[in-house]
Amino acid sequence: MNVINRMRGLALALAATGLAVSVSAPGHADAPIFATATLHADQPGPVINRDIYGQFVEDLGRSVYGGIYVGEASPIPNTQGFRNDVIAALREIRTPVIRWPGGCFADRYDWRDGIGPKASRPVRINNWGGVEDSNAVGTHEYMAFAELVGAQTYVGGNVGTGSPREMAQWVEYMTSPSHSALAEERRRNGRDKPFKLDFIGVGNEAWGCGGHMRPEHYVDLFRTFAPYLGVDGQALTKVAAGASGDNYAWTEAVMAGTTKLNMPNGGPPALGALSLHYYTFAGDGPHHTGPATGFDEDHWIGAFANTLKMDELIAKHSAIMDKYDPAKHTALFIDEWGAWYDTEKGTDPLLGYQQNTLRDALIAAVNFDIFHAHADRVRMANISQLANVLQALVLTDHEKMLLTPTYYVFDMYKVFQDATALPLDIQTPLYAYGGKSVPAVHGTAARGTDGAVHIGLVNLDPHRPATVGVSLTGLNARAVTGEIMTAEAMDAHNTYEAPTTLTPQPFRDARLGGQTLTVNLPAKSVVVLDLR
Ligand code: AHR
Repeated sequence: MNVINRMRGLALALAATGLAVSVSAPGHADAPIFATATLHADQPGPVINRDIYGQFVEDLGRSVYGGIYVGEASPIPNTQGFRNDVIAALREIRTPVIRWPGGCFADRYDWRDGIGPKASRPVRINNWGGVEDSNAVGTHEYMAFAELVGAQTYVGGNVGTGSPREMAQWVEYMTSPSHSALAEERRRNGRDKPFKLDFIGVGNEAWGCGGHMRPEHYVDLFRTFAPYLGVDGQALTKVAAGASGDNYAWTEAVMAGTTKLNMPNGGPPALGALSLHYYTFAGDGPHHTGPATGFDEDHWIGAFANTLKMDELIAKHSAIMDKYDPAKHTALFIDEWGAWYDTEKGTDPLLGYQQNTLRDALIAAVNFDIFHAHADRVRMANISQLANVLQALVLTDHEKMLLTPTYYVFDMYKVFQDATALPLDIQTPLYAYGGKSVPAVHGTAARGTDGAVHIGLVNLDPHRPATVGVSLTGLNARAVTGEIMTAEAMDAHNTYEAPTTLTPQPFRDARLGGQTLTVNLPAKSVVVLDLR
């Protein structure tokens, strides 16, 4: 049984025995709920790949231009045209990998538009919003940005309108140490050493904006493109365009058609990873998702009910992958995830700008809990998107920049990067509203690379505090410290005028007593604890 089902099962069992099932009623001082958990520190699981904390920057709206890049001539402090404030923020959360340039954008992108002197680069019409795109940020600039941040690189290749030759030449241009014509062209454009290309996406959403293909057709294209990307022995992970949501037939077809596909001369398997995209809508779909701020409780619980489906999706896609790849050579990359709301009033609906609130912080935390629970297969995730688009970490307005509640969850959870997962079995009451119900308390635990045990806990109930009694097995902790994010309003958020309304604060309501840790979580809160 997967993690969420296990929690649901326990919650239902509690309901059946007449024990604690919370049904919140807004507007009065609610009694606390009680949850219990067991931490098995003596049963280490897989390592939580730090790439789960990855980013996605698409050439969409103000994600690139204005969001991360302002140009070298800008009065906004920058390095090689990239905003110093954004670089510093991304370094602080130890950003492991950045995916670029799309998304849907990638399947129309001609990499040759983005190299050479900026003044000679062609202006193109961006498929997002039909706006003019200067191509000022191309391969060299993206690579410079990744180097400034200290992140690995994940380039999305064009299958929809591109050819195997074009993608192969792009890879050679970026990575060849030789004196080939393409490597020499890169040198003439200012880069002697090869760039470090870590991951390449062979198309994106090939069932949709990436070509409206049948899976069989995509499989044949993947088999055609992949062998030409890079040279034997090169550490370049090829990522197949995966399913959206519950399109299990897509995963079945791609795994069946590619698993035994090896590079010539016995090189590594061509299919390094398969992607999965899943977005959180707060209502019943993209057209009923509601606003990013000023939403009601229906759209609070709706967002979490939809977010929690991520667990079942990963479990079912993983089960299909297990059939073809029981040794788990091929990773599952959730390379687009996050909340997708109505676009902010007064902005172009195609450009995806939305505010970011406490609800988003909790959505991010719950997603991380789920990714950790599947760390054996999920080895990368890339939130959509880094700046000014969808569930952004950073919002900018010319020289102004703010860090969102989602950013601060990445900061709180960075202790889980490369940590060793520890089982945390939670027994929680439900939080119910308007005909929907979700387990109220969620969590994750791991032993960090610093030796400390870290526990993340989330209380989704917007009214009731939760007291969580955690039995510690295999752990003698002497001290506990922690951080919390919470607020009075469900839609608490940061603005340029008040940029620190919602930031992590020291958390002092956790007590150690023998082998039990007691934590008092306020309503609608996320807490990360360090036990030493
Ligand atoms: O993140 C925005 C878009 O959502 C991406 O371009 C696409 O892959 C997905 O449909």
